[in-house]
Amino acid sequence: RTAQPVIVAIDGPSGTGKSSTSKAVAAQLGLRYLDTGAQYRAITWWMVTNGIDIDDPTAIAAVAGKPEIVSGTDPANPTITVDGVDVSGPIRTQEVTDRVSAVSAVPEVRERITELQRSLAAAAENGIVVEGRDIGTTVLPDADLKIFLTASPEARAARRSGELKGADLHSTREALIKRDAADSSRKTSPLAKAEDAIEVDTTDLTLPQVIECVVTLVEEKRAGK
Ligand code: DC
Repeated sequence: RTAQPVIVAIDGPSGTGKSSTSKAVAAQLGLRYLDTGAQYRAITWWMVTNGIDIDDPTAIAAVAGKPEIVSGTDPANPTITVDGVDVSGPIRTQEVTDRVSAVSAVPEVRERITELQRSLAAAAENGIVVEGRDIGTTVLPDADLKIFLTASPEARAARRSGELKGADLHSTREALIKRDAADSSRKTSPLAKAEDAIEVDTTDLTLPQVIECVVTLVEEKRAGK
């Protein structure tokens, strides 16, 4: 591969195939991979574990700098630890999922996590695929390529309940819409499509089709088209 690192930002709401797509694209192209949602989940897990009142933004802000969050960026084996503890399992629980929007809305939390994200992107020799909600707009506004993934609420709920064993489709859909609304309406860097992002609607696409589409876009970028 050429020396120029390539920075790819992939944003969008949950259930659009963001994580699966980003991981596969990074693996295929020899890039690093960062799941920023996992970082927000990790700091939320720490807040819950330490009994911080999630309804009190001031309390959250006061301790936002305390936990040490470390992300491993190998797409074949992405890892996440908090103060040295592997939290890849616990961050996927319903308890954390239900609280992550409130914690990630606190500006001090976002500043802290954004700083981590920028330093990981800067350290990636060949480049990196960073997935989240505000990567193209706020974290890496100079990314070489920005993708915004969308899908109908029905398709997103169906994908999520497929991932969560035995989850009820209707309640999954309601919870997902509620979380997206919270993430899109918060004051500090909400979920939003960057002006220069390419929107890909994945409703009627299979995962391999989405991956191929994004890989092609990255390769075109690299070829200087
Ligand atoms: O992608 P996910 O479902 O794991 O993300 C969990 C939450 O983290 C999501 O509800 C909003 C928040 N998040 C964020 O605020 N900014 C990001 N860049 C990524 C995630």
